[in-house]
Amino acid sequence: MSFRILGTGSVVPDRSLSNNDLAGMVDTSDEWIVSRTGISSRRISSGETMTDLCVKSSLLALENAEVSPDELDLIICATICGDYITPSQASLIQSEIGATCPAFDVNAACSGFIYALDTASAYLSSGKASKILVVAYDSLSKFVDWTDRNTCVLFGDGGGAVVLDKGDDLLGINLTSEGNAEILNIPCHNESPFGSETVTRQFLQMNGQEVFKFAVSRIVTEMKKLIQNCKVSADEIDYVLLHQANIRIINAARQRLGMPEGKFMSNLARYGNTSAGSIPVLLDELNRNGTLRKGQILALIAFGGGLTTGACLLRWDPAK
Ligand code: UT7
Repeated sequence: MSFRILGTGSVVPDRSLSNNDLAGMVDTSDEWIVSRTGISSRRISSGETMTDLCVKSSLLALENAEVSPDELDLIICATICGDYITPSQASLIQSEIGATCPAFDVNAACSGFIYALDTASAYLSSGKASKILVVAYDSLSKFVDWTDRNTCVLFGDGGGAVVLDKGDDLLGINLTSEGNAEILNIPCHNESPFGSETVTRQFLQMNGQEVFKFAVSRIVTEMKKLIQNCKVSADEIDYVLLHQANIRIINAARQRLGMPEGKFMSNLARYGNTSAGSIPVLLDELNRNGTLRKGQILALIAFGGGLTTGACLLRWDPAK
C-alpha cells in the first residue's frame, strides 16, 4: 500500500521579475543568466502571504481531486519559508481551508515535496490516514540578498499541492541526508539577546559550484537506484521531473543517464528555482495541460539544502 495522487493544484505570485529587471538591480545581464541557468524570469510575492498562496494551491488541488476539506485526515506542508515559526504553515492552511485534521510542516528545503510524499505514504500504509493533502511551497525571495548577483538571479517564489488517497501508484521512494551547512544554508537568528554581538540580518548563502556537482551526481545515483529497486527500465519511464534549479544541471544529469531530452520536463525559464515548490508546480502544469496520461510512469527527483535528496517513481492515475 502506498498512495494514489487524486488531484493537483498550484499557484505562483502575480508579480514577475525579469532578467532585465534584475540587471537594473545588480551587475548582471539577461545573456549571463539565460546561458548559465536557463532562467528568464521568476515570480516574487508582494502582497500575498505564504498562507494566501498555499491556501489557493490547496483549494485547487482539492477541487481537482473532488475531495472536500473535511475528508482530509492529515495536512503536511513542505516549506522553509512559513509565515511564522509557530504556528506551522500546515496548521494555517488547515484552518483557512476549513479542515479539522492534524497538520505539520516538513523542513527538507528543495527536497521537501518528496520528503512529504514519503511521510504521507507511511501514514497511508499504516492505516492512520486515508486522505492526505501535501502542500510544498517556498518563498525564498524573503531570504535572498537582492544585492548578491551570485544568488539573487536563481530563485523565485511558488509551489503547489497534491491530494493523496490510499493506492498502489508509488513504485519506489528514497530519501537521503548528509548534514552540511557549509555549501548551502539560510542562517537563523541564533544570537543570544544576552550576548554582546549585534544582530544583523543574514541571507541565503551558497557555494554554487559545489551544489552543482552534488546535484548532478546525486540525480544520476538516485535515478539508477529507482530503476534498480523498482525493476523498471529507463525506457519505461515516460517523464522525468527534476527539481528546477538550473537547466545545465538538468542537461548534465540527462546526458550522463543517456536518456532522451523529450522526457525531461521543465518550466525553469518562467519561474526559476522555487525550492520545495518546483516539482509540484511542474506536475500540476503537466496534469492540467494534458501532457500526462493515465498509466504513465514519472520519476520525481529533488536535491537541495540539508544536503538532502528525495527521489520517487510513480504511476500516474489521477481521479479523472
Ligand atoms: O536548490 C538548489 C540551489 N542551488 C543551486 O542549484 C545552484 C547550483 N549552482 C549553479 O546553478 C551555478 O553554479 C551558478 C548558476 C550559481 C553559477 O554558475 P557557474 O557557471 O558555476 O558560475 P561561477 O560561479 O563559476 O561564476 C562565473 C563568473 C564569475 O566571475 P569571474 O570570477 O569568472 O570573473 C562570477 O563572479 O560569473 C560571475 N557571476 C555573474 N556574472 C553575471 C556570478 N553570478 C553572476 C551573475 N551575472 N548573476
